Amino acid sequence: MRNHFSMAITAGLLVSAAVPALAQQPALAGDPKEAHKKIAMCEGCHGIPGYKTAYPQVYHVPMLGGQQAAYISSALHAYKAGQRKHPSMRGIAASLSDQDIADLAAYYSAGHK
Ligand code: HEC
Repeated sequence: MRNHFSMAITAGLLVSAAVPALAQQPALAGDPKEAHKKIAMCEGCHGIPGYKTAYPQVYHVPMLGGQQAAYISSALHAYKAGQRKHPSMRGIAASLSDQDIADLAAYYSAGHK
């Protein structure tokens, strides 16, 4: 039995749509408590409603809280792989392990800002 159903429940992802979406990801359990150690480097941009970065041009910074874990995780993997191009996010995603990404996805999908 793969463990992402229990993971989804632990993460508080009781939205039924999140379960099949998560099943497409590698079976890595995301732990929102672990994410607390990592969000310091995200909240400077993502924690501020309506925040914009000026580099390399003016970007609206999307809010992460409440987005689906599978979406957040696939976006971070896409920055890491260079399929998404934003330079700051690429640099940040490159520094994250697969476990970090799973933890952050679990944290933000649980509705944290
Ligand atoms: C320097 C400011 C900055 C920091 C720090 C930052 N981000 Fe971002 N992030 C952005 C911007 C700007 C975008 C939108 C870029 C784009 O259009 O591709 C973005 C996009 C994203 C997306 C895609 C969201 C979507 O709706 O498509 C995710 C997921 C994400 N960031 C997660 C994180 C995480 C997790 C961290 C911390 C580990 C982090 N970011 C740190 C500025 C930042």
